[in-house]
Amino acid sequence: MKRTGLLIIALGLACGCAAESPNRSPADLLADLDEVEATTVMDAPSSVPGTYAPENRDLVERGEYMVELLGCGACHTNGALVGDPDMERSLAGSDTGIAYTSPMGDGHPGVVYPPNITPDPETGIGDWSDRQIANAIRAGIGRHGSRRITTMPWQGYARLSDDDVDAIVRYLRSVRPVVHRVPDAVVPGTRAQAPFVYFGVYRSKN
Ligand code: HEC
Repeated sequence: MKRTGLLIIALGLACGCAAESPNRSPADLLADLDEVEATTVMDAPSSVPGTYAPENRDLVERGEYMVELLGCGACHTNGALVGDPDMERSLAGSDTGIAYTSPMGDGHPGVVYPPNITPDPETGIGDWSDRQIANAIRAGIGRHGSRRITTMPWQGYARLSDDDVDAIVRYLRSVRPVVHRVPDAVVPGTRAQAPFVYFGVYRSKN
């Protein structure tokens, strides 16, 4: 597949275009892709003892149960999207991204990388307030603020009760902080430097 990539870059240079040609054939696109089976069910990491008050134990355990059921780790754990989750760094973010525009349209799709949601203050959500974390989960408001979080199914989490979100937040604060920074998001039309997967259903026109 390197050949197509080089060819497209060469065309871009020859015509002085800033972007690579968007007209990649389905065969080119398919040659670029491997079929993988994502890991969708996985254990959530255990809480670290002493990170919460003993009277909150039930709440934190409920948070763990919900994070497991809601499949947060399936995106936010490195390798899970391609079927090989790194359980040592569970919830610490994924170096495999998720495309959010059509593979057929832009030549190269926009890609987001599920961030680190362990309590590391630098690379995770350790310095986020409870409200910021709750808003990310229920309203899709991310660290960039200006646009809604893409590809994470926050619409499906919007109806979580305050108590349930509180449980999730307390649980996320109780797991081991892992230092891991995920790649920056990639805008549509730009070639991503780190791998990504496509989700989605494409409807035939007839
Ligand atoms: C289908 C994949 C997917 C699932 C499932 C998912 N997320 Fe996300 N999440 C993402 C992506 C991708 C982003 C960043 C998107 C963006 O910046 O546009 C994100 C962003 C976040 C953020 C904001 C963090 C930051 O640094 O910007 C939090 C907090 C978060 N998710 C928590 C959760 C929790 C808790 C769950 C489970 C209840 C969950 N996510 C389930 C993919 C997912």
